[in-house]
Amino acid sequence: MTNQATKTKERLLSGMRPTGPLHLGHFVGALENWLNFQDEFDCFLLISDYQALGDYSNRIELIRKSVYEVTLDWLAVGLDPQKCTFVIQSYVPEHAELHVLLSMITPLSEIKRNPTLKTEMKQIYSKQIALGFFNYPASQVADILLPRAQIVPVGEDQLPHIELTRKIARKFNKIYKNIFPIPKAIIGRVPRLPGIDGNFKMSKSLDNAIYLSDDEKTVVKKVMKMYTDPKRIHVNIPGTVEGNPVFIYHDAFNPNVGEVNYLKKLYRKGKVSDTEVKERLARALNQFLAPIRERREKFKHQPKLVKEILYEGSKRERKLAKETMKLVKEAMGIIY
Ligand code: TRP
Repeated sequence: MTNQATKTKERLLSGMRPTGPLHLGHFVGALENWLNFQDEFDCFLLISDYQALGDYSNRIELIRKSVYEVTLDWLAVGLDPQKCTFVIQSYVPEHAELHVLLSMITPLSEIKRNPTLKTEMKQIYSKQIALGFFNYPASQVADILLPRAQIVPVGEDQLPHIELTRKIARKFNKIYKNIFPIPKAIIGRVPRLPGIDGNFKMSKSLDNAIYLSDDEKTVVKKVMKMYTDPKRIHVNIPGTVEGNPVFIYHDAFNPNVGEVNYLKKLYRKGKVSDTEVKERLARALNQFLAPIRERREKFKHQPKLVKEILYEGSKRERKLAKETMKLVKEAMGIIY
């Protein structure tokens, strides 16, 4: 199937910041849904480099490298560029143009109270918060509305941004003209995967993530040092399964449900060691990652092809973006 043939489908848009390689949390939070939807919807997948610049304006090399790494990760998990349009945000500058126009009808108070933004402002990498960073929820509204997307599959932390998008779309439609569909968020199977240290969020800065590009040995090493039930200083002390990262990962990635349930039963009774539970988890994770590594390896040696996918995708979205901008400017009367 070609992109041409998918034209009449409903549109989906989602995106990721190119600030580092993708991890297991990205998979269960978003990528898995993207994969599930790639046949059903006309998918636009955004490498949001403008957004990354909000916090990494002095780390352009990292962004440049990550644009490529994130694309490899997407291809590695099985996203098919014949079905999905991969877009570099800044290669479709209409993202910025729509952001400017929509920011005129976005209440400052909405941005100020955005809970995800508030949390991120505390964890921000740079010392100073840039206006562009503060603004990013509004730019994300433009990302979603530019291709007039109906579906936005994201991790749970992104929900406030989708809520804002719905508000702004409604507001625009009411005061100017009915142009934008009101998009729906779809949350992943595991809304929030904890880090291997038990922290509620996986992130590069906390160095607590297992990456889709980690090799077998690295995965074993990371799993073996994973945080578990701290009260189990002996094997025969009954353990807690609920909220235990090792079991959360088993539930998320071990397809052998029988094995997982059996391990839980033994763990609760103090009849299995943490080491064994972890060894089995490492095995399951490596099995899960094997085909991903294989595809990654294949694409890694075709940098030209990978670039072509990004250029072609950006070109395709740009066509649609120009259509939307024409509608928006007509509706607002910005024609002189
Ligand atoms: N904020 C998302 C992230 O942190 C990336 C993103 C940019 C996005 N634009 C988007 C997600 C539009 C969904 C829709 O990875």
